[in-house]
Amino acid sequence: MDIKKRSSFSGKLGFILAAAGSAVGLGNIWRFPYLAAKYGGGMFLLVYIALSVTFGFALMVAEVAIGRKTKTSAIGAYRQLDKRFTFVGVLGSVIPALILPYYAVIGGWVTKYFAGFCMGQTAQMADSDYFNAYIGSSETVWDVAEPLLWFALFIGVTALIVLCGVEKGIEKVSKLMMPALVVLILFVAIYSLCTLDGAMEGLLYYIKPDFSKFSFTTVIAATGQLFYSMSLAMGIMITFGSYMKKDVNIEKATHSVEIFDTGIAFLAGLMIVPAVFAFSGGDESALSQGPGLMFVTLPKVFQAMPAGTVIGAVFFLMVLFAALTSAISLMETVVSILCDKFHWRRKPCCLLVLGFSLLLGAASSLGYSAWGNFRIFNMQLLDFFDFITNSVLMPIVAFVTCIFVGYVLGTQPLIDEVELSGKFKQKRMFSVIIRYVAPICILLILASSVLGAFGIFQI
Ligand code: TRP
Repeated sequence: MDIKKRSSFSGKLGFILAAAGSAVGLGNIWRFPYLAAKYGGGMFLLVYIALSVTFGFALMVAEVAIGRKTKTSAIGAYRQLDKRFTFVGVLGSVIPALILPYYAVIGGWVTKYFAGFCMGQTAQMADSDYFNAYIGSSETVWDVAEPLLWFALFIGVTALIVLCGVEKGIEKVSKLMMPALVVLILFVAIYSLCTLDGAMEGLLYYIKPDFSKFSFTTVIAATGQLFYSMSLAMGIMITFGSYMKKDVNIEKATHSVEIFDTGIAFLAGLMIVPAVFAFSGGDESALSQGPGLMFVTLPKVFQAMPAGTVIGAVFFLMVLFAALTSAISLMETVVSILCDKFHWRRKPCCLLVLGFSLLLGAASSLGYSAWGNFRIFNMQLLDFFDFITNSVLMPIVAFVTCIFVGYVLGTQPLIDEVELSGKFKQKRMFSVIIRYVAPICILLILASSVLGAFGIFQI
């Protein structure tokens, strides 16, 4: 990334807004609720929150401190600290390139739903089979082409914004959109809780941990979600740290981002999970629906609401902005890594990333329809990319980061970095997590998710 930007965060707020902008996205609104519904409601929530204040916190502090200490982005940062670990930076940089294509496919779904509400198709979209038919049907050419076109539009706009360097404009708009989105999510959640029959049972399912639902799978899913949602284990936070001034309190700033990110995910779950209950009576298959959950449930909620079509359109527009800012940030990361590494100009880098994303994203999209029989490890392509990044690559990067910080660099230099701007209150917890708890847990998680994918070990 260019040097000009290096010191561009004006203070604590600058860092928090940038980090939160990259953290809050489809991960919170689309991914978190469907995982929570699938993996035991309250139990998942509890595990997620527990992980977020321990693991998530420690890893984020470590990454931000590495960035601020070295003043460069991931690859350079590791190279500067210890040449042998440069590969962690490289591996971390591959992750956003693999996330971006399928992120844009979901972005395409959001765009389609926004357009649908604008055209007043609320009743059709509220039909239970609509979503699956939309992404899965391959009867006519149009059936197959439509999701591809929305996806291409989404990634195309993202690329155009990155190419023209007009992210700042989008960020300004999204600073208005984000708070509005939070208010709207709250409104929809309260509305469905107060008016939909059965929503209260859903609320209980969502917030009351049922210990019999605890399983290793819950922990794996929650950890993957944690990395994804907080944009950890892929070098992004190192880059943000490198822009941070020395007098900003890393511990406090990290807490703010973590609370904000988890808070929005919680609210999104509150909006979706009880509604799923209301419309399905807590039916298992509705709860474990997976990636389509938000798209199937929300149109039903909007249909049940007065002026629901308008509210639905506004809602999906805001989600679109949240998704767009994250997609821009993902693409920008990949582009700047390419530019730095190969000393190419921005334009060819952008086009290369666009082309790559179009290929991989189109394949993920077709994996639901025309290529529906194609499976890798019994997963559809989109699920496979999601799995390989969140459950394999990110844990590897997180694991090596912990080993590096805990045993090679030592936690002290990072603690010193944090203490440049005041006392590091949780430094003991930080060291214990980074040195002992995190590596062991991540290794277990990694082993079981890889073995699980090969079908050797079923959890
Ligand atoms: N955290 C983002 C979300 O919740 C997704 C994401 C993961 C991301 N890594 C990123 C966004 C890097 C921007 C940059 O949707």
